[in-house]
Amino acid sequence: MAPTALICDTQPWKDLKAHVEEIKKTHLRELLTDTERCKQMLLEFDGITLDYSRQQATLGTLNKLQKLAEAAHLKDKIERMFKGEHINSTENRSVLHVALRAPRDAVVKSDGKNVVPDVWKVLDQIKDFSDKVRNGSWVGATGKPLTNVISVGIGGSFLGPLFVHTALQTDPEASKQAKGRQLRFLANVDPIDVARNITGLNPETTLVVVVSKTFTTAETMLNARTLRTWISKELGPSAVAKHMVAVSTNLMLVEKFGIDPKNAFAFWDWVGGRYSVCSAVGVMPLSLQYGFSVVEKFLNGAWSVDNHFSSAPFEKNLPVLLGLLSVWNVSFLGYPARAILPYSQALEKFAPHIQQVSMESNGKGVSIDGVPLPLETGEIDFGEPGTNGQHSFYQLIHQGRVIPCDFIGVIKSQQPVYLEGEIVNNHDELMSNFFAQPDALAYGKTHEQLLKENVPDHLIPHKTFTGNRPSISLLLSSLDAYKIGQLLAIYEHRVAVQGFIWGINSFDQWGVELGKSLATQVRKQLHASRTKKAPVQGFNSSTTTLLNKYLQESLDVPATPSTLLPKV
Ligand code: F6P
Repeated sequence: MAPTALICDTQPWKDLKAHVEEIKKTHLRELLTDTERCKQMLLEFDGITLDYSRQQATLGTLNKLQKLAEAAHLKDKIERMFKGEHINSTENRSVLHVALRAPRDAVVKSDGKNVVPDVWKVLDQIKDFSDKVRNGSWVGATGKPLTNVISVGIGGSFLGPLFVHTALQTDPEASKQAKGRQLRFLANVDPIDVARNITGLNPETTLVVVVSKTFTTAETMLNARTLRTWISKELGPSAVAKHMVAVSTNLMLVEKFGIDPKNAFAFWDWVGGRYSVCSAVGVMPLSLQYGFSVVEKFLNGAWSVDNHFSSAPFEKNLPVLLGLLSVWNVSFLGYPARAILPYSQALEKFAPHIQQVSMESNGKGVSIDGVPLPLETGEIDFGEPGTNGQHSFYQLIHQGRVIPCDFIGVIKSQQPVYLEGEIVNNHDELMSNFFAQPDALAYGKTHEQLLKENVPDHLIPHKTFTGNRPSISLLLSSLDAYKIGQLLAIYEHRVAVQGFIWGINSFDQWGVELGKSLATQVRKQLHASRTKKAPVQGFNSSTTTLLNKYLQESLDVPATPSTLLPKV
């Protein structure tokens, strides 16, 4: 295919560049007085309300962004994704995480084949297996029920499942289903993470799920070998068959590792790691903890947004609008970061998950055709739940740098608390902040206001808030499994929209490879130095000095150690 023109060379991009000057003359204080604009910047879909009136944008800006979408062939790119075309061109793969949440009777094709029956075959296997573990008909080697699960995996094989697990933990229906059960996640190769995970657990009642798309990731495989040792040391090597299962696309390596292929749950190369929470990667550990029926609701929620994304007109399409506005903020207004601020402690692991989804997807330096980009793509995502963030980094957001914010609020708390005699209930207290912060950022506080408040002259500059700081507000009717699925899919598709506009491949991740190969060189050196006293060589002087120091000061590490596991 002929290389596509860079988006920054198109007329709509140039028009938006020129439009920035106009927008810079406005202030959110004035933009928010236009009720008609505000009405038009409100969108409702299936229990979700998006208010984007606090974006530094006019209705004219939105028009221009729609033209940009046309120039980027956004509609066509979305369709190609849903049709299973190999849009991940550098890996020659389709991108079909939407098929993971499709109902049984849907048709989603990859390479001409409907993949939905394969998806449901694995979902049925997971349901069957997790039911058996949960009802005690699958027991451990000593006959005890397996009430604890450690999910071993990193990156996409960890962050999505952790986010959903954390969000479900306090949901009344899910927590009832999880009674007497524990789910933990071992991600970091740091032995401290092993110690944290096994502390207080008995291998007799523990099931380990090794989750790795490739089954080659160094961290995950060492952690899996560590837990295999933990189990076999206590219960004998034959216990592994009852206490370890796997989730992977590489079933050959699963078998080689020593896990019975009957206990391996498959997914496919058309599922990117960071988009895999709806595959066995998330469904397996989450079903063990909460039961399949709860997880199915999560999948249904994601599918509701998939349908909306593929069919709603762009002016009423949540992920499309969010994606376009992100491009506007990053590429035109020059705001490279974005804060994700859920006013729900249940969503505390949402920002870490979206960091990977967004930054691994869109942190690219070349176009999909390999042409170096004269524009920066991706955004720097970070976040914390409100109100904790308010007492931490909001100072910078209010008076320092401009960072577009995503405020995410929930109408009905998972866990309401009312106290007699208090002015408001506890959730209303939380939500008072959710409603106040976007206006504080948008309006700020002027010199005149401070004068009226008799603020001493020397403090006026310090107490002034310039305002005009953009945000969106996303209000969810509740936070159950269905809503969590919707939220996930909105952000996944928003990231895809951004990548489609920038003209990059949002579905590969070559940028993580270099660090991995350099670590291999260091690993070899450490082995040679520890076992044969080999001198450190082949590194620059800085790394050589640091490695020598590390080796010198850890001479007590045995060269050929016998197995030692953490004792906490
Ligand atoms: O190093 C990054 C990465 O490749 C991610 O994209 C992926 O989610 C993670 O590693 C884990 O990979 P795997 O599931 O193959 O172990």
